[in-house]
Amino acid sequence: MKLLITNARPYGEEAVDVLVTDGVVTEIGTGLAAADAEVLDAGGNVLLPGLVDLHVHLREPGGEESETVETGSQAAALGGFTAVFAMPNTDPVADTAVVVEHVRRRGEEVGLVDVHPVGAVTTGLKGEKLAELGTMAASGAQVRMFSDDGRCVNDPLIMRRALEYASALDVVIAQHAEDHRLTGGAQAHEGAVASRLGLQGWPATAEETVIARDCALAREAGADLHVCHVSSLHSIAVLRQAKAQGVRVSAEVTPHHLLLTDGRLTGYDPVNKVNPPLRTGADTQAMREALAEGVIDVVATDHAPHAAQYKDAEWAAARPGMLGLQTALSVVIHTMVEPGLLDWRGVARAMSERPAEIGRLPDQGRPIAVGEPGTFCLVDPDAQWTVHGAALASRAANTPYEGMRLPGAVVATVLRGRITARDGKVAV
Ligand code: DOR
Ligand code: ZN
Repeated sequence: MKLLITNARPYGEEAVDVLVTDGVVTEIGTGLAAADAEVLDAGGNVLLPGLVDLHVHLREPGGEESETVETGSQAAALGGFTAVFAMPNTDPVADTAVVVEHVRRRGEEVGLVDVHPVGAVTTGLKGEKLAELGTMAASGAQVRMFSDDGRCVNDPLIMRRALEYASALDVVIAQHAEDHRLTGGAQAHEGAVASRLGLQGWPATAEETVIARDCALAREAGADLHVCHVSSLHSIAVLRQAKAQGVRVSAEVTPHHLLLTDGRLTGYDPVNKVNPPLRTGADTQAMREALAEGVIDVVATDHAPHAAQYKDAEWAAARPGMLGLQTALSVVIHTMVEPGLLDWRGVARAMSERPAEIGRLPDQGRPIAVGEPGTFCLVDPDAQWTVHGAALASRAANTPYEGMRLPGAVVATVLRGRITARDGKVAV
């Protein structure tokens, strides 16, 4: 099986043709021809390695009214992703080999994107007893990342044990950093906006203190710690210092924490409700600078679909979370590429190479070069489009970008030489 991509600009550089044979890049040059190849005319657009998302909620099993592995995979392929990590806060929770193997198998059956199940750190996400990390790691799902996301592993002794296992198993623990005793279920950034609106505040210190504690525990265990959805500017200083001391910590920021602030909360529209909460303009600016600097390693979407019945409710009752897969690259172009904070190499690093390293995926996030996988995302940087939740592939429509015009469009996504999405349509 051959795919010839013509007139593509890898990382936005010189235009070339790329020949992929049986899923692997076999030639890069100009004027390439292959009589028996399918041809994808890239039209001078930017070619990146396929995007990798360390943090999505696909809701299967148990939450199929909001998303399924199939609809989530479609959204991923349309967003330029070739691999995603599916969080375990499903029903049943992905805390056993049976459940993680099921999710992985569903991903393979759909076949649009590599779906890597994240295993729970504690049984039932209850934070009380370690789940069988070793069994999940050794299972057919080959779990390499564990998280109780949605909940924080609050107990320092459990977190310490999890990190010790992680070190022994060569896996990574992804922490949802929120000291629940400080947030007490609050649903808005603690600050002027929450006070004015009469909403209980989620203090940024609840994030910062858990990150500081976990960096110390990770250092002692010699383990890899990944911090989910960093949202507070105070967390950046903690991460910078830990990294300087050699702690094996990585961190992610979501597109919404790069762009949106708590100024959006004034209408009490639950589409803006997310955990961690939208914070201030100083925080979004700090997130952008930290991503440019590399203190924050990756962009991860925290794609969190919720069916209308869970979102169309009063603020306090609505579930937190927002869609992210189909808008992530555009938001990164808007917040990072347009202001000159990241070039295309930087985008490839933050949305493909580093996430693949952190998630231990040997055949994703690879350079565009002969002998490497034919796994790409082709981007038209000059396109503009208007977001409509109803038109997105996700089963749910809870996008915070409804009606917004965003730059950059995914023209095609290619997984090991096979086109999975093209011109806004999923390949069948
Ligand atoms: O906003 C969020 N939604 N934050 C989380 O941590 C969990 C997620 C979800 O599962 O909906
Ligand atoms: Zn989370």
